[in-house]
Amino acid sequence: MTLITPANPETLNAAASALKSGRLVAFPTETVYGLGADATQELAVARIFAAKARPQFNPLIIHVPNLTIAEQIVIFTPVARRLAQEFWPGPLTLVLPRTTSCSVSLLAGAGLDSLAIRIPAHPIAQALLKISQCPLAAPSANRSGHVSPTTASHVASEKFGSDVAMILDGGACQIGIESTVLDLTSSPTLLRPGGISLEDLIAKIGDIRIATEDSAAPRSPGMMERHYAPSRPLRLNARDPHPGEVLLGFGPTAPPTAALNLSLAGSVVEAASNLFAMIRNLDRPDISGIAVMPIPTTGLGQAINDRLRRAALGSTHNDNPQ
Ligand code: TXA
Ligand code: MG
Repeated sequence: MTLITPANPETLNAAASALKSGRLVAFPTETVYGLGADATQELAVARIFAAKARPQFNPLIIHVPNLTIAEQIVIFTPVARRLAQEFWPGPLTLVLPRTTSCSVSLLAGAGLDSLAIRIPAHPIAQALLKISQCPLAAPSANRSGHVSPTTASHVASEKFGSDVAMILDGGACQIGIESTVLDLTSSPTLLRPGGISLEDLIAKIGDIRIATEDSAAPRSPGMMERHYAPSRPLRLNARDPHPGEVLLGFGPTAPPTAALNLSLAGSVVEAASNLFAMIRNLDRPDISGIAVMPIPTTGLGQAINDRLRRAALGSTHNDNPQ
């Protein structure tokens, strides 16, 4: 069972080195407890999805200690800057385009060109971010389908596996509901209500659209799939490449013709960590398509197959403009 530890200089240092080595640390924020990983390590981020048993790779929120680091990761608009000045640190998450030099894992952003980012106000979250010196990808520290945890013992009761090195105890979260998520990649759109009210946001920046599941709002689930579409067609459950195709292999039985292998060892966690980077790498104009070997449907394999199916679907419609 994962150890609950009070936060002090010694345990914060231990947490930082656990994060550096690719393990996970649960920590308090003013909203809910987060399950954090070094956001620059693909494999560490894959371990978050494995620990939460998420059936899909939802994009994660990237936590940073200050605006200087935020500006290295995402591109701020004047509206974003106004909101950051007013509400950060605090329970507001902004979705903005990645910078070209962005070091955050592609898996953390679920392969999108945007990232959700926030500066948490909780002193323990702030201390952890400063000591570990890396952005932290952190969804709420609960298994998929469970409610968000607001105490360290809620997190412990999720019985995460050994990838979670420790749970930093900060008592009960002051706000207790997740951050408000606002998409600023086009006209401001509320993706999730949360710790900052819509009224307070409107008072600062004017009109805000509300994303609904079935509207054409950007990033709503029905629209998401096109973002995963490579420009070349994707063929799933392939054993061998057709002429002109490149083969994306999986496991030790992949033929030598495979251009890349998602995991030679056959690990779905490793495959998840390589998925978006390898598809981007293979998606070149000089090929007729990408053939992908079968991926098991166990563990993270379910999310990998979900993403691949969406990408395959999207790639046949890629003449549809956004
Ligand atoms: O209060 C919170 O926000 C907590 C604490 C730990 O910071 N975190 C949290 O993370 O609730 P999570 O992963 O449970 O929720 C992230 C939300 C999801 O609704 C996700 O779809 C959205 O943010 N999101 C993240 N990146 C996005 C992106 N690039 N575009 C659109 N939505 C995004
Ligand atoms: Mg959550």
